[in-house]
Amino acid sequence: MDTKKSIHGEWSSRTAFILAATGSAVGLGNIWKFPYITGENGGGAFVIVYLLCVALVGIPVMMAETLFGRRGRENPVHTMAILTKEANADEHWPYLGWMGMIAGVLILSYYSVIAGWACGYVLKAIDGSFFGVDAQGAKNLFMAFTASPLQLLFWHTGFMVATMFIVARGLSQGFEKSIHFLIPGLFLLLFLLVGYAMTTDSYFQGLHFLFNPDFSKLTGNAILVALGQAFFSLGIGMGAVMVYGAYLPKKVSITETITIIAVADTVVALLAGIAIFPIVLSNGLPLNSGPGLIFESLPIAFGNMFGGWLFGILFFVMLVFAALSSSIALIEPAVSWLVENKGMERGKACWYAGGVTWLLGFGSALSFNVGADVTVFGKTFYDLLDYLTSNLMLPIGGFCIAIFAGWMMGQAHSEAELAMAKPLHYQAWRLLIRYLATTAIFVVFLSVVGVV
Ligand code: PHE
Repeated sequence: MDTKKSIHGEWSSRTAFILAATGSAVGLGNIWKFPYITGENGGGAFVIVYLLCVALVGIPVMMAETLFGRRGRENPVHTMAILTKEANADEHWPYLGWMGMIAGVLILSYYSVIAGWACGYVLKAIDGSFFGVDAQGAKNLFMAFTASPLQLLFWHTGFMVATMFIVARGLSQGFEKSIHFLIPGLFLLLFLLVGYAMTTDSYFQGLHFLFNPDFSKLTGNAILVALGQAFFSLGIGMGAVMVYGAYLPKKVSITETITIIAVADTVVALLAGIAIFPIVLSNGLPLNSGPGLIFESLPIAFGNMFGGWLFGILFFVMLVFAALSSSIALIEPAVSWLVENKGMERGKACWYAGGVTWLLGFGSALSFNVGADVTVFGKTFYDLLDYLTSNLMLPIGGFCIAIFAGWMMGQAHSEAELAMAKPLHYQAWRLLIRYLATTAIFVVFLSVVGVV
């Protein structure tokens, strides 16, 4: 198995893998979702729990998912089948690959709708809609935009077509290129926004909200949301990282690369928070504005800062690109499964997987306007899908990955894949994956169900 290479080819270099995996990790999750759920869940204490989840559960599970991919070298379902055989484990383990594929499609269906908002905002930035806008103006702009089913469906469709076009072109031509300028560009613009946030009169209040924990605000559900967000933001628990791992050359250190990616991902989220909350607070916007938070707050910054017209355009263009590089990762498990297990030609597989995802997206797009009152358990279609995927499917996927890596897979095998320089480091990973990651996810679930 050691010499086996993925049938899709391999990354041209370690940097190419880091860029692509960072492209998958950094997306709407960092810039759109992290700030809004932090706002909804009370700030500092939530952020600390989130950081702990990334460090103690997210990184070890991400390493496990990568090593599965590199060892199996196929789509998640096949990879799990290969590893199950090698480990002599129960024949049901490949279902883990299945669940991931489905989670990817479900997530992309609403992800594409939100990415569509970012597309719409590129146009708004260009036509000067943000000029001199105040809090009420930005809110009106957002409300008018999301109230239109046609506009949301139009942009959702455009975004899905772009995603499927890139995926249909295959691995290396498709994504390695765009990410080179994307991540550095995003960092620059986020720094610029932080610079603007410093000029508002609520900069320190924003920092205080983000970093000063008030544990009395922390609910059991908030802890589950933080855990789910760690999985969502790193892009783990659903097989995307497994697919990327399958393309990873043997000599590259998994520990190092994954740590770099996770740190970059977390820094982007924190920067987004540092930029957004001072703007939100200084303009008297509610912290719990929900999914509209960045769309209601950032236009105020662009509309009132020097060079804001250009920066606004650049920001939303980059957000669209960041979303694209994540979307590719979300759909790739399903596409590679259709190609490898169903013998479909890649273009056709893209049509099928993309078509289903696109149709599902209608439910989310409409839940922000005409379907806003259609709720199940008090949740709209979008809320329900988000809860199901981020808070249930990804953590359950992560739990299973941890159990398989820690308890099913032979120690010699995971040790060989991780190839850590110091035996102590490997022992630390093994302890985290066997005991801490599994227990943490389990306890969070129990506490939400109300048993603990
Ligand atoms: N990590 C991506 C983001 O933060 C979303 C994603 C989730 C990508 C799961 C791949 C897999 O936007």
